[in-house]
Amino acid sequence: MFENISSNGIYKNLFDGNWIESKTKNTIETHSPYDESLIGKIQAVSKDEVDEIFKNSRAAQKKWSDTPINERASIMRKAADILDDNAEYLAKVLSNEIAKDINSALSEVKRTADFIRYTANEGTHMEGEAISSDNFPGSKKGKISLVERVPLGVVLAISPFNYPVNLSASKVAPALIAGNSVVLKPPTVGAISALHLAEVFNAAGLPAGVLNTITGRGSEIGDYLITHEAVNLINFTGSSAVGKHISKIAGMIPVVLELGGKDAAIVLEDANLSAAANSIVSGAYGYSGQRCTAVKRVLVMDSVADKLVSLVKEKVKELKVGKPSENVTITPLIDNKAADYVQTLIDDAINKGATLVVGNKREKNLIYPTLFDNVTEDMRIAWEEPFGPVLPIIRVKSIDEAIDLSNRSEYGLQAAVFTENMHDAFYIANKLEVGTVQVNNKPERGPDHFPFLGTKSSGMGTQGVRYSIEAMTRHKSIVLNI
Ligand code: NAP
Ligand code: G3H
Repeated sequence: MFENISSNGIYKNLFDGNWIESKTKNTIETHSPYDESLIGKIQAVSKDEVDEIFKNSRAAQKKWSDTPINERASIMRKAADILDDNAEYLAKVLSNEIAKDINSALSEVKRTADFIRYTANEGTHMEGEAISSDNFPGSKKGKISLVERVPLGVVLAISPFNYPVNLSASKVAPALIAGNSVVLKPPTVGAISALHLAEVFNAAGLPAGVLNTITGRGSEIGDYLITHEAVNLINFTGSSAVGKHISKIAGMIPVVLELGGKDAAIVLEDANLSAAANSIVSGAYGYSGQRCTAVKRVLVMDSVADKLVSLVKEKVKELKVGKPSENVTITPLIDNKAADYVQTLIDDAINKGATLVVGNKREKNLIYPTLFDNVTEDMRIAWEEPFGPVLPIIRVKSIDEAIDLSNRSEYGLQAAVFTENMHDAFYIANKLEVGTVQVNNKPERGPDHFPFLGTKSSGMGTQGVRYSIEAMTRHKSIVLNI
């Protein structure tokens, strides 16, 4: 069913219901992070074409917002079914393009179908309210404010390479059910997977122009998109550096940002250490650590540190490394630049005296799972986000020291606390400056109807099905004077 989106390995953009090539004929090659083979070429859209696309999106939005919500929801449920029906195929496309292990790729696609379906249903249950004037001191009866939520207009959705299907859909679906049109700018590496998602919505019967795509390097067309006068909301997921840049230049266009993290797993003396070790290893090394919510540091009480390190070490040694198409956890990072950066953090930790427990082995962009003990505050790995399979363990002497270390990070996405004592868990959770605290589990985004947010350099605004729909609508009040 995806034959229209490409010809001869050249992928097109969805514009006004049709798949088209850029008039400039400029393309960008995408190569496999695993073996460097050519995966395909995507369009590098020009600024003139961007103008035309936004004009089309704006016109399409007017009709879409007049379409009854139950009809919008039906189209979205159909899209979810198409995604489910093609899950195996799409998982292969995804796994090939971003070197995500095939099991995680399949789970990303299926989760996305569930997300779209749930969002369609949630949208049909969003209701407004009526507020009476005499609630306010001194006011009489006789006025009623009818408050409903209306769409914002054109949503610019920008997604990252690590979840190109799910983190595109997590913007597109809530925007659509709310009555917005969407311009999707997918990551350059990951675009082919995201274009397949766009075709899923197109095939489900989404009216022409309600979802358009724009491919091209963010460094070249990003600023033009962000500052475009047709944009009514920017919904961005990616690095904190790009997110902050967007926030600076966006002016009065509302922005929702999901950015980087340095999530801490805090392990107390009474924790079930075996369960904590399992959770920490799957949290730190899944998809080679390329998750915003990966465990990116462990803060463990000195008294149980030896035991925890030994349990984590055994689990890390069991991790399978290799081909994305096989049942493995560790695959090559997205590119050599990413691997070079991770290597600088590893080298810095070794030079400053951290204990290398496992790892520090590299083949091009493949970094083997690496574990450090006795990491100290002067090491970069204590503070920076590697976005790779490297985990630093920092030993602490008290709960308050763990809280202080966690809070001194520039990031504030999530944190985990492992303990059997709920009083300690709540004490810590209340003091951590993060969006979410997980008690006895690794940090993670899902289930996707939970609120998902970051503080400080980790983001702005709240996502999660209902919260995303709210973020992509505004209140409209009509006052009835009786
Ligand atoms: P990135 O380099 O910031 O890129 C993200 C997206 O922004 C891509 O589509 C990119 O396009 C585009 N972009 C780049 N420069 C732009 C500009 N000036 N204007 C507009 N768009 C621009 O991030 P990434 O490497 O793909 O993703 C990894 C980062 O994302 C990590 O820091 C991770 O923690 C974070 N992340 C956060 C969450 C969360 O929910 N908090 C989820 C996933 C990832 P190109 O690909 O064309 O450059
Ligand atoms: O990379 C960021 C994703 O939003 C994290 O999702 O916790 O399900 O891996 P996840």
